[in-house]
Amino acid sequence: MLQTSISQQTGFAHLSDLPCLKLQYGTASAVISLYGAQVLSYQPTAENEVLWLSPKAQWHNQQAIRGGVPVCWPWFGPVSAMFNPQNISLPNHGLVRTKLWQVGSQQSSAAGVSVTLTIAVDDLPYFQGSAKLQLCVTLNDSLTLTLSCDSVMPQQAALHSYFAVNNLSSALVRPLPASYHDKVRDVVVDNGSAVATFNAETDRIYHQSAAQLWLEQAEQLLSLCQRGHDATVVWNPWQEKSSKMSDLQLDSYQQFVCVETAHLTTDNQALTLSQQLKRT
Ligand code: BG6
Repeated sequence: MLQTSISQQTGFAHLSDLPCLKLQYGTASAVISLYGAQVLSYQPTAENEVLWLSPKAQWHNQQAIRGGVPVCWPWFGPVSAMFNPQNISLPNHGLVRTKLWQVGSQQSSAAGVSVTLTIAVDDLPYFQGSAKLQLCVTLNDSLTLTLSCDSVMPQQAALHSYFAVNNLSSALVRPLPASYHDKVRDVVVDNGSAVATFNAETDRIYHQSAAQLWLEQAEQLLSLCQRGHDATVVWNPWQEKSSKMSDLQLDSYQQFVCVETAHLTTDNQALTLSQQLKRT
């Protein structure tokens, strides 16, 4: 008999006072922080963790949690003038990583366990009124995150997943377009390869990436299916950048890669963006 449940818990890992929800579907589990609507853990089977959470992650003092699946919205990266007409100081990757979200509908059946977190954002610097954003997390034999906002307006978004890796030098992501924007050097590169590997600081935007990617590492395959995206961002800060980030340890960069499902165009539109993770 399949056991399913949704329970509230206070604390996850060293973040002992963080309000969270835990989803259980048979031997699979996921933990979601209400701060940032951030999935922090996905275990397809017990003790088999897909995501990475920094041992130095913090959530107080308006700090975004380093790890799991941060939700970036409504801008990606440093805020641009179109999202910030008054040129005020605003955080990287939008406004919702550092807000508490509400728990909305919950469903539990043999088909899966789902919870929807919602937030009404009424302090957007470029949009009058309140925009309602929701993240639906469904756990069954995969984990699916779907971020949506019905308001028609410029909105960028990313599901900024940090994946745990055992051996960074053997990790690779494929199939990717041969051409990408290299944010480290701010140049467009066409290296004729469909594969990203990690041997230096990596910060790449792959436009029009495929609907299914694979993260491969020694004897492990993770399928990443994306919908509603127009780009995939692949990021690893490497050593020098990590050393300047207060919520990373010096060797943290060897323990994760980010593969981010992103919607980066800024036309007036509603948003539906999803990422589905499955170990095979
Ligand atoms: C990635 C960006 O998505 O996020 C990088 O491409 C950035 O440029 C990284 O450094 C981390 O951002 P933050 O705001 O979480 O430190």
